[in-house]
Amino acid sequence: DKDLLQNVFIGAIDAGTTSSRFLILDGAGTPVAQHQIELDQSYPRPGWHEHDPQQLIDSVRECMEKATADFTSKGHDVSDIRAIGITNQRETTLVWDTETGEPLHPAIAWPDTRTQALVRELKEREGADELRELCGLPLSTYPSAVKLVWLLRNVDAVREAYEAGRLSFGTVDTWLLYHLNGGLEEKSNVTDATNASRTMFMNLHTLEYDDKLLDFFNLDRNKLRLPKIVPSSSPDAFGKVSEGSLRGVRITGCLGDQSAAMVGQKAFTPGSAKNTYGTGCFLLYNVGEEPVISKHGLLATVAYHFGRDKKPVYALEGSIAVAGSGVKFLMNNLGFVEQSHEITDLAATVEDNGGCVFVTAFSGLFAPYWIDDAKGTIFGITQHTTQGHIARATLEATCFQTKAILDAMAKDSGQPLAELAVDGGMSASDLCMQTQADIINIPVVRPAMRETTSLGAAFAAGFAVGIWKEFHELESINQKGRTVFEPDISEKKSAKMFKKWSKAVEMCRGWSD
Ligand code: G3P
Repeated sequence: DKDLLQNVFIGAIDAGTTSSRFLILDGAGTPVAQHQIELDQSYPRPGWHEHDPQQLIDSVRECMEKATADFTSKGHDVSDIRAIGITNQRETTLVWDTETGEPLHPAIAWPDTRTQALVRELKEREGADELRELCGLPLSTYPSAVKLVWLLRNVDAVREAYEAGRLSFGTVDTWLLYHLNGGLEEKSNVTDATNASRTMFMNLHTLEYDDKLLDFFNLDRNKLRLPKIVPSSSPDAFGKVSEGSLRGVRITGCLGDQSAAMVGQKAFTPGSAKNTYGTGCFLLYNVGEEPVISKHGLLATVAYHFGRDKKPVYALEGSIAVAGSGVKFLMNNLGFVEQSHEITDLAATVEDNGGCVFVTAFSGLFAPYWIDDAKGTIFGITQHTTQGHIARATLEATCFQTKAILDAMAKDSGQPLAELAVDGGMSASDLCMQTQADIINIPVVRPAMRETTSLGAAFAAGFAVGIWKEFHELESINQKGRTVFEPDISEKKSAKMFKKWSKAVEMCRGWSD
């Protein structure tokens, strides 16, 4: 009943790479209150990228308080918030002392490439070729496992805690849950299957930690506290908020942000897909209830797991490390604009890229290339080149990588995509989305409400407390007002552009530290 659903509310914590947010949505999926705080990004050395663990939790708490104040000031009642869902940047690695809860190092963020040499070494280790079959991921600087091994090798406090059996490891979801539910013994050390599938410690088929994987990284389970893996939607696995205005509200959903966007886009049937243009850009393609191990440079991952009595659903994923962070680079490092959204206006000052190709390989290149030693490189600069051309080339870089991922996906799945559902910050740019449609030669479809990541977390939380029981009940949510971008250039022209991009990718190899 629509009226009824407008009086039922769900909170969604979206702990992203660039910002923390808290949204309160009604049962019809409409956000009614929200608050957002930008996170500090620390780049202490080339390739390093850290977050302050305390700020991760403090910013979430502040967002929850401010959004709740906004909610009540609009005449709503906190007691109508039935549940809270968490969604978060994935792979980012935190370590803390199990007994004191003190973080032992800044969080190593997912795009960090300090592990480059370590990854080269691990690739030579016996058993390296078998990892992908077990966990779905290629060995690279991206997953949590290599970040944890680096910490153990390089940070005394981490190694000492490990040797003393006091080292806790977690991704951002676990860290937030640990604090939000007040360290309640059992529920304070959990993660969901989507987040765990990004660590490289979880067996994709059993959804449990695998000794073969832990052994490969020389990790001893008895010395390391790993969070318990539970379904993404669960009435009692994540505890309750222990303090503040939302004290007592149950946390019943938890998903990595790309999985949450997939759920928020309602990509529930095998063959459906979504592409989220956030800090990075991530294309997830639903492959159903059996994982598909990619042969063409994609990741196999858990899309979502909605309860113990249900089977997990898997996805093929194409991960692009740089999307919105490329725009931020033009803004913060090169001073092109003052606000991110102005990049589109700058790009619109020119008709095309003027021969410029920008391979935004700030973290090497992720899917489908996996070139660890690539560095950001701009090709084709002449006296004709302006900021507008570089702005355009920056937006195009994500679009070209999306094209490379779609090609790989068509090979892995045997089925080319008919249209691409999009969301995330950069999808607000009409110019960027039109460019995307032109480059992939299929329509790009953007929903009216682009907070699909929060929506997905709210769906996961709402299912666990019975607000919805079947996926078809979500059908009408966020369906109106979609924008469709139809391809507007010839396939010949887009193929020519892509060829140039591919040449540029080949030329940016070999810049190891
Ligand atoms: O794998 C990293 C991803 O989860 C980060 O997402 O939206 O912060 O770019 P986002």
